[in-house]
Amino acid sequence: MRQSSRTVHSEYSKVRISERLEPGNMPNATFYAESVPFEQIEKLAISGGYSSIYATSKPSVDVVGNWQNRYCSLADTFQPVLDRVYNFDVREDDVWIVTSTKCGTTWAQEMTWLILNDFDFEKAKSEDLTLRSPFLEFNGVVPNVPHDTIEAANNLPSPRLIKSHLPAWLLPKQVWTKKPKIIYIFRNPKDAAISYFHHWRGMVGYKGTKQDFMHSYIDGYVNFNPFWPHVLDFWQLRNQPEIFFTSYERMKRDLAGVIKDVCKFLGREVKDEQLSQLVAHLSFDKMKDNPACNHVKEFESMKAAAGREVDEFSRFVRRGIVGSHKDEMPQSVIQEFDDWTEDNLKDYQLTIEDFTNYSKY
Ligand code: A3P
Repeated sequence: MRQSSRTVHSEYSKVRISERLEPGNMPNATFYAESVPFEQIEKLAISGGYSSIYATSKPSVDVVGNWQNRYCSLADTFQPVLDRVYNFDVREDDVWIVTSTKCGTTWAQEMTWLILNDFDFEKAKSEDLTLRSPFLEFNGVVPNVPHDTIEAANNLPSPRLIKSHLPAWLLPKQVWTKKPKIIYIFRNPKDAAISYFHHWRGMVGYKGTKQDFMHSYIDGYVNFNPFWPHVLDFWQLRNQPEIFFTSYERMKRDLAGVIKDVCKFLGREVKDEQLSQLVAHLSFDKMKDNPACNHVKEFESMKAAAGREVDEFSRFVRRGIVGSHKDEMPQSVIQEFDDWTEDNLKDYQLTIEDFTNYSKY
């Protein structure tokens, strides 16, 4: 079994946290950042700093495990953004799409935006999805771009549809008091990791090996990871009326069923004709050729900020299948993922199928 270098790192952090939380040490900060070892940053081809973010006090949402050991890996460019996100004004009628990366976020956003906007396909095709449904912490991913997504979200009329990849405890604190509806999409981490690998090559310019990237993923070093606690926090909230937990796999298996459930969750009507129109609109082939859903605006920002081409990753909608890891991941790495999954789920007596088969209604 792969020994995650994170185990060691977390133990180390525990000691550091208790030292740092001595009264008067960091009294006002909501989070603190601990630098990620340089060799990990170098391995991921990140040019700036990179940190594990920890909470300095108990989060207002219940999280799995000991909150003091919970961290989220984020490039240091997120640090000026995190407090703004945490203090963001949430509205009760917001709808949030929260996912770990590459789990079908864009797909779920397009589906939900259309449900929330009376199936206005014309507007959906003519206005970029990133404007209709802002990625709240995007300026942490790509800093120094003129488009401020937090400001854009502030200025959107209700009902807003907001995307975030942050774990529950790093979301705006008002999320847990105003209780907007949250749609959480799970995906088998082996497929999500393969998808992230392609993303990282195209977006970040990663030139390392697939195996190294997969190890960084398992060890929780890529942006927004570790994966399993991110999922488990929302899994344990799944029965709350304002939480809708579903999976990429279920969307592939029964898109019409998921659409009907989301309509029920959001209290929206869907006619048979609208349902079949939406299923067709959300098909992989249609989405692949829909420029409004291909993150064109984000690519432009990225190109401008990086000063380099990101052509290799011209298609955000890439393969769109369940099981892409089977022909893209070496068998030894599949085994490492399986061991890591078992290790993370055994205390909860859960398997991947529990998440992929789950249906709220
Ligand atoms: P692959 O890279 O495996 O193809 P996110 O939006 O969270 O970044 O997720 C991206 C993944 O969702 C990509 O996976 C992408 O192809 C897939 N995806 C996007 N639209 C899809 C659709 N209409 N049907 C199936 N998969 C889709």
